[in-house]
Amino acid sequence: MTLEQVRKEPSPYGIDFFIYGVSMCGIIGYVGQKNAPDVLLQGMRKLEYRGYDSAGMAVVGGRALSVMKDVGKVDEIHSRHDFLSLRANAGIAHTRWATHGGVTQANAHPHVSSDGAIAVVHNGIVENFRELRAFLQSQGFRFYSETDTETIPKLIEHGIRQGLGFVQATEDALRRIEGRYAVVAMNKDGTVIAARNGSPLVVGVGDGEYFAASDIPAFMDYTKRVVYLHDNDFVVVGRNGLIMNNLKTGPVERPIDTIEWDAQRAEKGDFQHYMLKEISEQAETLAKAVKQDEGTMKRLVDDIQNAKHVVLVAAGTAYHACISGRYVISRIAKKHVASVRASEFENILHMIDRDTLVLAVSQSGETADTLEAVKMAKTSGARVVSIVNVAGSTLHRESAYALLTNAGPEIGVASTKAYTAQLGVLTLLAYALQGNTEEGRRTLEVTRNQAYNLTAASMRANIRTLADVLKGKEHIFTLGRQLEYGTAKEAALKIKEVSYIHVEALQAGELKHGTIALIEKGTPCIAFFSEANRRETLSNAQEVRARGAYVIGVGAETDPVFDFFIKVPEVGLCNPILQIIPMQILAYQLAVLRGKDPDRPRNLAKSVTVK
Ligand code: AGP
Repeated sequence: MTLEQVRKEPSPYGIDFFIYGVSMCGIIGYVGQKNAPDVLLQGMRKLEYRGYDSAGMAVVGGRALSVMKDVGKVDEIHSRHDFLSLRANAGIAHTRWATHGGVTQANAHPHVSSDGAIAVVHNGIVENFRELRAFLQSQGFRFYSETDTETIPKLIEHGIRQGLGFVQATEDALRRIEGRYAVVAMNKDGTVIAARNGSPLVVGVGDGEYFAASDIPAFMDYTKRVVYLHDNDFVVVGRNGLIMNNLKTGPVERPIDTIEWDAQRAEKGDFQHYMLKEISEQAETLAKAVKQDEGTMKRLVDDIQNAKHVVLVAAGTAYHACISGRYVISRIAKKHVASVRASEFENILHMIDRDTLVLAVSQSGETADTLEAVKMAKTSGARVVSIVNVAGSTLHRESAYALLTNAGPEIGVASTKAYTAQLGVLTLLAYALQGNTEEGRRTLEVTRNQAYNLTAASMRANIRTLADVLKGKEHIFTLGRQLEYGTAKEAALKIKEVSYIHVEALQAGELKHGTIALIEKGTPCIAFFSEANRRETLSNAQEVRARGAYVIGVGAETDPVFDFFIKVPEVGLCNPILQIIPMQILAYQLAVLRGKDPDRPRNLAKSVTVK
């Protein structure tokens, strides 16, 4: 679709019909000597894990701006429209994950000004879009999409009509926007502006070329030099190179960091899917996770010991790491440690004060619920420390300090290696609290070696037999006690999100209080057990077996109660790290056997950057 088509296409929506068009997406911009569509197309593919229901690109060549956008995955759109038929040295692109606005060509980004001179890609929410849209309509602007984003190019255009230049008009427009955003805007003279407030955006600095993207893998084939933007940063890339401002404080200088990941770590290599590659990397990523700086670890030990209350906060998989983490820390530190889902944090705010230590756990460091919880905690005077994978992320910067999980880029939407890295750091912390960091390191080294065996081809073949039994099932139950309850929760989430089989996790002892009514002949129940709770968990396994369940055991020693057994060596407090690995493989294989794409599960996006 050309720009002309975008502009002349009549709105399919009545003027009064407007759906809140929030999106959670991947954005990228490029200015340099290379052919921009090549760079942008590669970048879109790398960012597709952030959203994959529609995508688009705008480029500037010969002072004309062209837009191509459509619904579907990046390569599907490319096969229909050929992004590479465009030629240019500057451009912006977007992969979209819609939450409210429909998945339509009109809603796909980039969005353009009425005169076709300005294009914008956006990740976030314009919370006051209704007022802005009404104002712009009163000024004669027409809208063609359901999105909040379309207000941005039109606000910029409005500023230009008032006599401002592109840069000043964009600055003005962003000052009028309420809400979280990462925006890349481009004028038809090839000037590109990147700005963020609350949503992720990093700038890549190459040799005479610049990139701006939601995540580093989008441009890491071209440069490893990155600038992490802060909230309200406003970066202009034009003929004069890079000019940095902050909308609140004026001109700023930000350091250029060199990233240590190599491009290969963000590639699939010989693996069919990122998910399988990332599962297979866990022996290596665990080794990196436990290489924590002694001083920072000691500081956290002191902070935990000095705090009256310790609260772990996270979402999704990271929260499951907290379920097990809470247990190991409180058992060893002899201190009650609470864990709360980030989206529920507001409901315990009355208990948060300056004597509270909030430990936030996240892979991306950009999860809106977690960031919101951290903001509330800080407002209540609590100290916030984080365990985070992405260095320079918002969570990293919002924390007093952080322990980095060092798992490298995680591209598969289902979190795997980041989860075991989080568990590794939390377990090491527990040992450090006991004054036994060295013992912790040794145990984690043994665990890491076992993780290597558990990701081997023989384990994949064994799990494949089980996946064949389970692939046609509608419901599965997972059971565990203590530490293993975290594993039961995470196993359930993993299988659900990639295979779409319904899985319910239960604390094993709770089963008989109601859910056992659902067990019938052939119902699969997966029981995780350790030395510490073997007797009790096996007796729960016996209860479901007596009702006809197909019982799968995950632990060190088998028992006649199991129809299928997955042997995982006993490593005490590290059990959750090992027991989840066969479950990640099971989830992956179920997805593949059921014809689903495990890297891009339906309705999901890698980082949930909206509340
Ligand atoms: C896990 O497989 C999911 N993709 C999701 O639950 C994720 O863990 C959650 O959204 C939290 O993300 P974060 O670790 O980046 O904060």
